[in-house]
Amino acid sequence: MARGSTSVEGNQPVSVSRTNLRSPDSDPAPVSALGNVVPAPSSVRPGGTPYTITSATAIRVDDAPGVRAVGDHLAAYLRPSTGYPLPVTPGSGADGVQLRLDPAAGELGDEGYRLESTGDGVLLTAREPAGLFHGVQTLRQLLPHAVEADSEQPGPWTVPGGTITDVPRYPYRGAMLDVSRHFFTVEQVKRYVDQLALYKINKLHLHLTDDQGWRIAVDSWPQLTAVGGSTSVGGTGGFYTKDQFRELVEYAAERHLDVIPEIDLPGHTNAALASYAELNPDGQAPELYTGTEVGFSSLCADKPVTYEFMDDVIREIAAITPGDRLHIGGDEADNTSAEDYAAIMAKAQESVARHGKEVVAWHQVTGTAVADGGWVQYWGTDETKKEEREQVAAAVRAGARLILSPADRAYLDMKYDGEFALGLSWAGLVEVDRSYDWDPATYFAEEGVPAEAVLGVEAPLWTETLSTNAELELMAFPRLLSAAEKGWSRGDLPWEGFHERLVDQGRRLTALGIAYHPSPKVEWAAE
Ligand code: ACM
Repeated sequence: MARGSTSVEGNQPVSVSRTNLRSPDSDPAPVSALGNVVPAPSSVRPGGTPYTITSATAIRVDDAPGVRAVGDHLAAYLRPSTGYPLPVTPGSGADGVQLRLDPAAGELGDEGYRLESTGDGVLLTAREPAGLFHGVQTLRQLLPHAVEADSEQPGPWTVPGGTITDVPRYPYRGAMLDVSRHFFTVEQVKRYVDQLALYKINKLHLHLTDDQGWRIAVDSWPQLTAVGGSTSVGGTGGFYTKDQFRELVEYAAERHLDVIPEIDLPGHTNAALASYAELNPDGQAPELYTGTEVGFSSLCADKPVTYEFMDDVIREIAAITPGDRLHIGGDEADNTSAEDYAAIMAKAQESVARHGKEVVAWHQVTGTAVADGGWVQYWGTDETKKEEREQVAAAVRAGARLILSPADRAYLDMKYDGEFALGLSWAGLVEVDRSYDWDPATYFAEEGVPAEAVLGVEAPLWTETLSTNAELELMAFPRLLSAAEKGWSRGDLPWEGFHERLVDQGRRLTALGIAYHPSPKVEWAAE
């Protein structure tokens, strides 16, 4: 299909109408093309009369748990820029925006939705509130990008006519934030959660512990935060109380993201080892660590206190985690023998099960036995040895599910180019086109991993070099949008169509106050 054409269906390239943040006396905003959305919807049928949101528009919601909350989110997104009251009212009506649950709409699954836009209004239908929430994100993106501004803008607020039916490709669409190398406050993480929600990310993996800092209160081992939480890379640290962690989990849940906390074991544990001398082989606590090396710390397999420590931590974290998964790390245990690694990871997996959860771990866990129901997170690159990939594939054949975070595609902390000031480059340079240039369904095909074994995609953001939201955003945007589309959209969509939608998203990001990296790989529109 030619660039700029408008008919789209089944993940064909999507056309874009370029819209601007406008002054009141400029021409009206062109109506955005239906389907001008990231991640690309499954099916887009443009046609019919557009609907314009006005000061008389109401948001009508089904009187069902979770639906009113989605309506309130929609109103909160739209009120500042439109200046309209947009009351959220129960029941249905002839016009306005309607949010409806249809338990019989099996084809929409747990997270899909249908958006029907006609001259009378916009009807969003889903089987679950999560689907309505994702549909609301699509509706946001169909409005001129000035709708994201936090002050009143001129409008008009027109949604193109037609129907979108949209179901995610994968159930796991994650983003990881490393709050250990640098600490990020609850408010800082909430800002990132809001940004993730816009792109239909549904998992927030929090890397809570590492050599440089322990970030979550554990009542039975209070020195973990009192001592281990006091540092970060290059300086002082911080940590979440349990109430703060619960607040963050609840905030994410309201935006339909599950939090998956990670306690990294048995390596990446210097903050814990520095907090409790008895965890160390010689009973001597090492110094706190504020550098950026990896692979030097390890728990001791032959000390019973190691297992008491792990079980207490896992029990307390499980108790404040409503989701059913805990991440137990398992990466870069370079100072742990294979035998000790196997012993510690086996006990950690037993603890996770004992406390009612299931395991996620980095793919090195496949060097030992993976618990039934385990999820394995692959973070290799094009350079990863065949034997390592085969080992992961064998674990998947034995029943593990695969989360794909190829570091030379999905790691948001890799530098875009050699001159980029922030980030690391051990996995290579990851420009925006490279972040988009892979297909999760075929990524492990050579090793015989069937497409169904892939649970989804996650984009990790490690923070050795990052300490502010502006720095996170420069690394995450626009590459997070590639990962979001890999996780949500079907098929191997062409870069050209993504590129066009990305150009439009650039303006949306600007309206949101997100300073994205203006990569030279994208022909950004002039502001
Ligand atoms: C990792 O990047 N060490 C999982």
